[in-house]
Amino acid sequence: DWTMSGFIESVIRDVREAVGPEGNVVCGLSGGIDSTVVAVLLNKAIGHRLHCIFVDNGLMRAQEVEEVSSYLREHFDLNLTVVDASERFLSKLAGVDDPEKKRKIIGYEFIEIFDEEAHRIENVAYLAQGTLYPDVIESISHKGPSAVIKSHHNVGGLPEKMKLKLIEPLRELFKDEVRKVAMELGMPDSIVWRHPFPGPGLAIRIIGEITAERLEILRKADKIVQNELTASGWYRKVWQGFAVLLPLKTVGVMGDGRTYEHVIALRIVDSVDAMTADWVRMPSEILERISSRIINEVKGVNRVVYDISSKPPSTIEWE
Ligand code: XMP
Repeated sequence: DWTMSGFIESVIRDVREAVGPEGNVVCGLSGGIDSTVVAVLLNKAIGHRLHCIFVDNGLMRAQEVEEVSSYLREHFDLNLTVVDASERFLSKLAGVDDPEKKRKIIGYEFIEIFDEEAHRIENVAYLAQGTLYPDVIESISHKGPSAVIKSHHNVGGLPEKMKLKLIEPLRELFKDEVRKVAMELGMPDSIVWRHPFPGPGLAIRIIGEITAERLEILRKADKIVQNELTASGWYRKVWQGFAVLLPLKTVGVMGDGRTYEHVIALRIVDSVDAMTADWVRMPSEILERISSRIINEVKGVNRVVYDISSKPPSTIEWE
């Protein structure tokens, strides 16, 4: 595709020109397609003078950090530092159940850690971010405090704190265009078609307080959801599909015994830009398979419910 390769060439040229022959750039990797595409593009332009930092907040899905980081190092020779900050995040989040407080804590810690790491690198003048066109629009339209529905932390925050100039090569693109760039760059389907994953991660998919035990339950349940969506071919057809852990217990029966355990909510939605969304009319066999696998394989869960709400008035995430 002429336009896509043209786009890639022009980003490489612009970045080289802006950064010069000596300058360094830092970039935060999240595991999602946007920051990954930015990293690979800039790596093509300036090689190891692009310093990628992946802050592991302990709120990622099972094996996600390892998978993404080893892939990027091997296939693109990315200059990548993974910071294991799980303990730090989990201790700050202990006892917190308010969704916006969770977001603020996670956003603040992320900036602190990223800033600490970036200060170890000399001669940094730029920060590269995977801001997309819809992020730009949303951050403009969400100016007044009353208009802020959820304080997403992927736009803003870092640049002010770090006093760095921004490089945002995707700021005129929509998601489907970013996917095309990713394909052109030779990325695998697992990255190109990866569902959006919120910055605060599993923290906002555990309703109420986050504990190590709840995180473990949710990781196991979510892995089953991801596996079954992929195996049935539905992963690519939907916008997002995931599990949510509810902080309540309900009664069940297993063998001769009564159980009293957690509920997992299954959320699978269609959308074009996440501004509106519709719940997916999934085939009942797939729902049944996901439900019975979660209940049988995940200790601590005895009930699975399917979310049949659309956005608006509901949101995609439960928090
Ligand atoms: P909602 O729940 O507002 O989500 O309908 C819309 C899209 O945004 C993602 N999302 C977030 N992404 N930080 C992020 O980076 C956040 O705090 C956040 N909250 C929601 C959500 O997964 C969906 O794709």
